[in-house]
Amino acid sequence: MSATFEKLMNGADGGLALLQVLADNSFDSVLITDASAEGKIVYANKSFKKLTGHDPSEIIGKTPRILQGAGTDSKVIARLSAALKSGGKFEGKAINYKKDGTPFIMYWRVLPIKVGKKISAWVAIQREGSVI
Ligand SMILES: Cc1cc2nc3c(=O)[nH]c(=O)nc-3n(C[C@H](O)[C@H](O)[C@H](O)COP(=O)(O)O)c2cc1C
Repeated sequence: MSATFEKLMNGADGGLALLQVLADNSFDSVLITDASAEGKIVYANKSFKKLTGHDPSEIIGKTPRILQGAGTDSKVIARLSAALKSGGKFEGKAINYKKDGTPFIMYWRVLPIKVGKKISAWVAIQREGSVI
């Protein structure tokens, strides 16, 4: 990390503005939930809409379980659930469903955002992963 970048990140709004541009324009889908046990969606980017068909405005306040269905591997979800409980990270793939019901392979990572020791949110980075 260069000194210039560090200065930008530590500046009052520079870091926030940079992260917003990155999340909004990422080719990968970015989905953020709050830290509650339910995991309510607080942010989704345009790539999430492209991947799943859900408009971000329609899914704020819902949970990412809306992507799951009959073919979703419960072992993968149990592994994710354990990571959420322990404050750890997750990476895996499972069948998910688009808004119109089309199944696809979701390949995704979920990571905690920690402020000090406290988890303030969870971030997922997602893409279609048929060959991974
Ligand atoms: C940030 C975040 C992103 C998630 N993204 C997905 C996803 O893309 N697909 C999916 O099947 N589950 C996803 N989940 C998992 C579900 O929201 C839920 O945590 C999981 O189903 C475990 O809870 P349950 O055992 O009560 O169903 C995500 C969870 C979090 C916190």
